[in-house]
Parts: sequence; structure tokens; C-alpha cells
Amino acid sequence: MPSIRMLPLALVAFSSLAIAQSTQANKTAPIAATPPMGWNSWNWFAEKVTDQDVRQAADLLVSSGMRDAGYIYVDIDDTWEGDRDASGVLHANSKFPDMKALSAYVHSKGLRLGIYSSPGSKTCARFAGSLGHEQQDADLYASWGIDFLKYDLCSLHREMGEMAPNDKLKQDAIMREAYAKMHAAILKTGRPMVYSLCQYGHDSSWQWAAEVGGNMWRTTADIDPTFFRIAQIGREQAGLAKYAGPGHWNDPDMLEVGNGKLTLDEDRTHMGMWAMLAAPLLAGNNLSQLTPEITAILTNREVIAIDQDPLGKQAERIFAEGPIEIWSRPLADGSRALAIFNFGEDESFLRDINLHLEEAGVANGWRARDVWAAKDLGPIDDDYRFTLRRHASLLLRLSR
Ligand code: GLA
Repeated sequence: MPSIRMLPLALVAFSSLAIAQSTQANKTAPIAATPPMGWNSWNWFAEKVTDQDVRQAADLLVSSGMRDAGYIYVDIDDTWEGDRDASGVLHANSKFPDMKALSAYVHSKGLRLGIYSSPGSKTCARFAGSLGHEQQDADLYASWGIDFLKYDLCSLHREMGEMAPNDKLKQDAIMREAYAKMHAAILKTGRPMVYSLCQYGHDSSWQWAAEVGGNMWRTTADIDPTFFRIAQIGREQAGLAKYAGPGHWNDPDMLEVGNGKLTLDEDRTHMGMWAMLAAPLLAGNNLSQLTPEITAILTNREVIAIDQDPLGKQAERIFAEGPIEIWSRPLADGSRALAIFNFGEDESFLRDINLHLEEAGVANGWRARDVWAAKDLGPIDDDYRFTLRRHASLLLRLSR
């Protein structure tokens, strides 16, 4: 059980996240003041997603307690698109018979609806993209009550190569202008929408994505539900903390917690790492197969409070030796989150590896809480000893 001393801290942090998220639709509130949280259809349903799946996901976000833990966006990914009519207006395909009704349903559950398009002529699954129809599409989304747009480079990558052959700088400018154009179109609708850039981190997307209006931007190619890929993406985020902050976040891609054949240690390491990274938390699993263990991982209030910390400072790596890494981030109440990862294939007793508290801005004697175990450890020293199973991690919250 959480101790009486630690609980208020977690609750204060969590309630400020709930307030920040619940007021996002308010025009005066900043968009994505904390990393957006929700569910996205792609990782599990991919091209098979239907209106029914999205409604069911909305129902399950509520009944599982995920909505109340902060997961409020329900994002339809690629393959909802149909044809454009004679006036260029895009219609949804037969899998989504009535987007307005779907939007009303999702909103009636206290959730928000997200949608997907591309700045190119085709999306990655070769459906209609928004090239040449940016304002028309933004207006359509606003008329449906859309709250979140994922804008995925897809065919523009090839098209910008054709527009400016052998000229990388010109291609880069075309791409940035395309993202800025949709941002301007969204603003013109007057409807607040989280603007999520999906550009896979080519040529350092983090350096320019906020300038073109991005509230979050992918820093990597696609995730998959293997620990190998999750660890690879997580470790590649080193050095990116300085680009993130309230309103604009690095996005190491959607969660695979509960998908594939991840062990519970791997699911916790994935979730904990994304929380350390102040990453958007978009669950990508089939919510109808939620187990109590997976629900507990996804809705762990203290882990979410680290992700959603209002200071918005993403973790940096402060130590790496082989498969062992230590990452830390400062939190708004003056405490620090510290994560020690074992990315290796064997259990490790961390021979001669200390916590590196000084690099984390922590003095010996600060008090530690083991977040996943929900256990206070008392005053801690740099030479605190513990063992990490294969692919496991220890997540600590340290305070004076
Ligand atoms: C790309 C994106 C994925 C998903 C698919 C849809 O691969 O990176 O997240 O949106 O397109 O086609």
C-alpha cells in the first residue's frame, strides 16, 4: 500500500494532470500542456479497424478505468478514408458510415476523437492524403468534432523527392512547409486539435517540428511488440530531452503494452521508460483483451504522474555500461525520477554499479520510493544494492 507520506505527492501530481487534460479543449488552455494520453487503433487493429472497434475502445477506456487515469484521446489511425467527391470533399469509407455520429458517441463518454492523414497525396496504407486539400480536410475534421490529428509523411517523402530531385535542402523545406500548412489550416478552423507529426525522425525531426506547430512528433520509425524494438527505440532517445516541454513532445511511438508476447517485466520497462521520456501515452493494445495485470500497468497512477509531471522535463541518460542504463528526470515538486534498466538477456546484480545520484541531482540520504512496488525504501545512498531480472527495471522517485 502507498504510505501516507508519499500518497499526497502522487495525488497532487495526478490531479494537476487531470486538470491540464480536461481543460485542453478550452480555447484559452494550452494544447498538450502534458503529453497527450489515449488509445490509437493502429498497433493492434491496423487496416481492419472499424467504427464498431472504435466505439468498443471508447467503452472499454471508461469501464477499465483508463479514461479516469488520463487516457482521453481515441485515435482512428489510417484506413478510414474513402473517396473525394466532385467538390474535393473527402468521405469516410464503408467501415466508418457516420463520422459525426461516431464523434458524438466518443464525446458522450467524456473522451476526445483523433484522426489521421498525410501531407502527401497518399497515406502509408495508400488511402487519400491531404495534399492540395489541406483546408478542406481541416474544415471537415472540425465539422466532425475532431480533437487530434496525426499527420503522417507517407507518400510526401517520395513526392518531395520528385519535386526537388537531388536537392535535400529544398526537399526538407517542402516537407516543413507541408506540415506548417496543415497547422495553419487547423488554426483557421478555430477548433483546438492536438497536432501530431509522424515523420519517423528522419533528419532530426525534433529540431524543427515545434516550429511548424507540432504538439508531438515521432522520433523513430515504427515500433513493434518485441522487447528488442522497444529497447532500441527507448535507448535512441538519449540527447533529445532539450527539445521537449509543455505543448511540444518527443514521441517515441505508441505503446505496445499488452500486445505481442511481452513479459510483465518487459511491459513495465516499456511503460516506465515512456514515462521517464515524458512520451505521449497512446495505448495500442486490444482493450477487449485487457488482463488485470496489464490494466494495472497502464493505469499505475504514480508512473503516470511521472509521465505527466507538469514541469515537462524529459529524462536523460546519466549512465550506461553494457546493458545497464540509468536515466533521470527532475519533477515539478523538486523530487527526481530515476530509472535503472537492464536491457540485457541475463539477470544482473549490478556489480560495482552505483545509482549515480549526484548526476541525477540527488544527495545521499534523500528518501526513495520504489514506484512499481509502491513501497517506501527510506533514505537511500549511492551504493544501494539490488538485482534486476532480464529486461527488468527499477523506477524510483527520490525526494528530500
Ligand atoms: C506509418 C506510421 C504508423 C501508422 C501507419 C499507418 O507506418 O508510422 O504509425 O500510422 O503508417 O499506415
